[in-house]
Amino acid sequence: MYLTRAILVLFVVTLAEGQTDRSMPNLQAGRKIFESQCALCHGANGGGGRGPSLHRPKLERAPDDAALRKLIAEGIPPEMPEAWQLSPPDIANLAAFVRSLGAVPPEAVPGDPAKGVIVYREKNCASCHIVNGVGTGFGPELSTIGAHRNATHLREALIKPAAFVPDDFVLAEVVTASGEPIRGIRANEDSFTIQIKDAAGRFYSFRKDEVRSWRLLRDQSAMPAFDQSLSPGELMDLVAYLASLRGSQ
Ligand code: HEC
Ligand code: HEC
Repeated sequence: MYLTRAILVLFVVTLAEGQTDRSMPNLQAGRKIFESQCALCHGANGGGGRGPSLHRPKLERAPDDAALRKLIAEGIPPEMPEAWQLSPPDIANLAAFVRSLGAVPPEAVPGDPAKGVIVYREKNCASCHIVNGVGTGFGPELSTIGAHRNATHLREALIKPAAFVPDDFVLAEVVTASGEPIRGIRANEDSFTIQIKDAAGRFYSFRKDEVRSWRLLRDQSAMPAFDQSLSPGELMDLVAYLASLRGSQ
């Protein structure tokens, strides 16, 4: 009789522990997975790099936990790989860890954003970028860039733009049948055609079999490098300004 009760108690306790495991995700386990599989792109502590900073209470692509787990499992083609190797409990732990990153305040960036706006104007960045509706959209929109990229990435984007070019902004060069070279951002491409947008905003569409040659310049950027034309102080202020562009978040 006592034995039966003891076994029953043991059974109930084990069941209860199993339950806790399932309802209380393990942040430490989530952190381990993050460090080995996500930090490469999102930074060692989630502060961002090639992928956006995750130090945000609200993630655009993952408004709730179910959406976050689905995003982690399926990835975001072509920039973020799917996590087919992770089990559902792994993903739940990882999602909980990512959520916990949202409570981290944005990093303190040295430099003066108010002076950075002036540098932005003087260097005519708006001839290629839009901030809050102002400017030209040859390059990526920067209205919420501070929420997506950390200061290290922003600094590098200014002094060495070719180091990371988002897939939507790959530089392409076509030499037409008459020998005229046309350079610009690849706006679209399929097996037979390629469309290019040049810095003056002109669109070109070519049939690949009608041009002399075409190629993607993956190691170059359509953005000029500002390593020579910004003083260290200007660079710091400009990065502080870009980091402050966080939209409503
Ligand atoms: C190869 C680089 C790479 C790896 C590895 C990677 N990511 Fe990403 N991730 C990205 C990029 C780039 C984006 C932004 C894509 C976009 O918005 O188009 C992104 C977006 C996200 C978002 C959405 C952020 C938002 O604003 O909604 C989350 C959440 C996320 N990643 C979590 C993870 C987790 C967790 C892992 C590890 C399993 C991971 N990522 C691995 C590159 C990566
Ligand atoms: C001739 C057009 C042009 C000018 C001028 C220009 N950019 Fe860019 N910029 C681009 C293009 C195209 C890209 C995308 C390719 C890349 O990232 O290398 C880009 C990328 C960026 C990025 C990275 C965005 C990301 O998501 O990683 C930042 C930040 C940026 N520019 C800021 C600036 C600032 C600040 C200035 C002024 C000092 C400036 N740009 C001047 C065309 C330009």
